Amino acid sequence: MSDTLLTKREAGVLTLTFNRPEKKNAFTHAMYEAATQALKQAEGDAEVRVVLLTGAGSVFTAGNDIGDFMEHPPAGEDSAVFRFLKALVDAPMPVLAAVDGPAVGIGTTMLLHCDYVVASERARFHMPFVQLGLCAEGASSMLLPRMAGYALASELLLFGEPFDAATALRAGIINKVVPDANLQEVAAERARTLASRPAEAVRVTKRLVREPLRAQTHQVLAKEGSEFIQRLGSAEAQEAFMAFMSRGRK
Ligand code: COA
Repeated sequence: MSDTLLTKREAGVLTLTFNRPEKKNAFTHAMYEAATQALKQAEGDAEVRVVLLTGAGSVFTAGNDIGDFMEHPPAGEDSAVFRFLKALVDAPMPVLAAVDGPAVGIGTTMLLHCDYVVASERARFHMPFVQLGLCAEGASSMLLPRMAGYALASELLLFGEPFDAATALRAGIINKVVPDANLQEVAAERARTLASRPAEAVRVTKRLVREPLRAQTHQVLAKEGSEFIQRLGSAEAQEAFMAFMSRGRK
């Protein structure tokens, strides 16, 4: 579909691989658009029973590309990043994720919308929004307290420090931690197993689990989105982005 988003279909499983390893799979808006299109196509494709998200090169994703944020900041609800998040929230088929290495920013918050997440022992999660002068996104301000409890959710979002797979498990963000070498095999087995279950029963069950919070999730996405867009233009965010972009040039 695109060089930076690889797609593979096999035995009812559509695997989407974030593929920009030289930039730690940081998301450009072209990647969001490709991922949104792949999810939307899968919705109407009875052959796709489950979607599996993963990253190339022992990295899940470093989150939004910071240079892209500066050059093409999302301007509203119709921006590529928000369309991707909405497609993920509305996905009728189960979405699984295999997380290796860093999962930063939206790399962590997209997991809150997944139905099963397996991580390697060396996976590292991070929501550095506050350090970047930004705010919670991906409906994390509503979903994370429900999953992790207020104490842990506030700690992870306010301090914005990286955390390990054991903490992600405790926060309810992931289902399982496996040795690094087994990650792809375990994730592929879980995806194939779910793809072999009765398809309608799987979709109905996912809908029943997610439906009660879906409308609220969309409202929170919109509210966070408008705060996030304002924060992007703030002096705090611009200063943090410039500091990241000029790393290594000092
Ligand atoms: N946006 C743009 N470029 C990014 C990026 C991002 N989010 N994350 C990593 N990169 C780039 C680096 O600038 C570097 O590019 P260069 O080789 O041209 O200098 C390359 O990817 C490798 O990154 P590096 O930081 O050297 O790798 P690392 O293994 O030391 O650290 C991370 C990996 C993911 C922990 C670190 O890159 C990081 O913290 N990135 C920022 C994540 C972030 O803040 N995301 C935004 C959330 S809203």
